[in-house]
Amino acid sequence: MKLNRAINIEDLQKMAKRRLPRIVYDFIEGGVEDELGIARNEASFDRERLVPRYLVDVSQRDQSCDLFDRKYASPFGVSATGLAALFRPGADLMLAEAAASANLPFMMSGMSTASIEEAAKVAPSHSWYQLYVARDREITLDLIRRVRDAGFGTLVLTVDVPVSSKRERNLRNGFALPPRLTTATMLNALTHPGWVAGYLRHGMPRFENWAPYARANSSTARINAFAAEQAPASSVTWKDLEEFRRLWPRHLVVKGILHRDDAIRAAEVGVDGIIVSNHGGRQLDQAPAPLEVLPGIREAVGDRVTLIVDGGVRRGADIIMALCHGARFVMVGRATLYGAAAGGVEGVRKAIGILREEIDLVLGQIGCPNIAGLDQSFLMKAPY
Ligand SMILES: Cc1cc2nc3c(=O)[nH]c(=O)nc-3n(C[C@H](O)[C@H](O)[C@H](O)COP(=O)(O)O)c2cc1C
Repeated sequence: MKLNRAINIEDLQKMAKRRLPRIVYDFIEGGVEDELGIARNEASFDRERLVPRYLVDVSQRDQSCDLFDRKYASPFGVSATGLAALFRPGADLMLAEAAASANLPFMMSGMSTASIEEAAKVAPSHSWYQLYVARDREITLDLIRRVRDAGFGTLVLTVDVPVSSKRERNLRNGFALPPRLTTATMLNALTHPGWVAGYLRHGMPRFENWAPYARANSSTARINAFAAEQAPASSVTWKDLEEFRRLWPRHLVVKGILHRDDAIRAAEVGVDGIIVSNHGGRQLDQAPAPLEVLPGIREAVGDRVTLIVDGGVRRGADIIMALCHGARFVMVGRATLYGAAAGGVEGVRKAIGILREEIDLVLGQIGCPNIAGLDQSFLMKAPY
């Protein structure tokens, strides 16, 4: 299928699946254990109904959204996805470029395969940085300094990776850095020549932001191993968040909150935003879907802190539902990554365009011409 024939995110997912060897596609798609969390995230949207209101003038519709002292073109952004260059060489910066040109935020992963300084060139005023705390304190502090010097406006601390998780697809496939090449993986890779050509040309990508801290002249394998040894540190606590609040003068966001008491505590620390998230079902398979806990968290923190949500978003309508539930903004992980894997920067633009168009149509369908007008009154829980 050609990129311009894709009419929804699922089409981009299918294209990504066709282009990528199984071991690589499974890394994007996979969750943990029985992958109930991924299914729960998507199903949480299926249990909601949007009840339309009619006889409203929807001839002018506006999906722009104020967040952290600026106006974005739409109420969603590109979330952090590590190792993106494995899916397509240069993918981190393609995500950054497409997000910036659509006036949406791009969150660079703490395990990105491009550097903070490169992202600052491509998306100088749209880049956020997602921090994984390193075991070595000096590295964490230096990363924060680099993010500040690069001019990023938002620092995001991911807290839902206290330990690594049991990703069974990766275990079964022998996914490692570099991938363990069994006969089966190699044979499968050979049926995806487009991907193989890119991999042969560019080689194994490396966790670029960690390279300066590894020993001089380290190989890619050594840099990747070094980053994996350093992060995520399992000893991160509220004290660290308090310290980052003192150190970081711009917008500070904590990503991966699911418990209302944690949300209250984060608000007390003075964060600007909370991303209600279960890491796209990649950490704790038994965790609730973000949409399930969002209303309780909204009630608990009120307007003290900006709520963002992610997980399972595949349609513009999902974004609308999350906003009706009290989120101000939504992040997407896989949706734009499918676009990058399927078609590079144009693929990301396509994914963004699809979501934007769906949002626009749903705003019209439900009789709410502005994002600010979305609230609980449009929602109904499915009766079955
Ligand atoms: C391949 C992949 C890599 C990811 N890497 C990171 C990461 O480095 N840091 C992080 O905070 N979240 C990471 N996430 C989680 C996303 O930021 C986001 O929370 C999640 O993908 C949202 O769910 P969705 O994919 O259903 O939209 C990753 C997700 C995927 C699919």
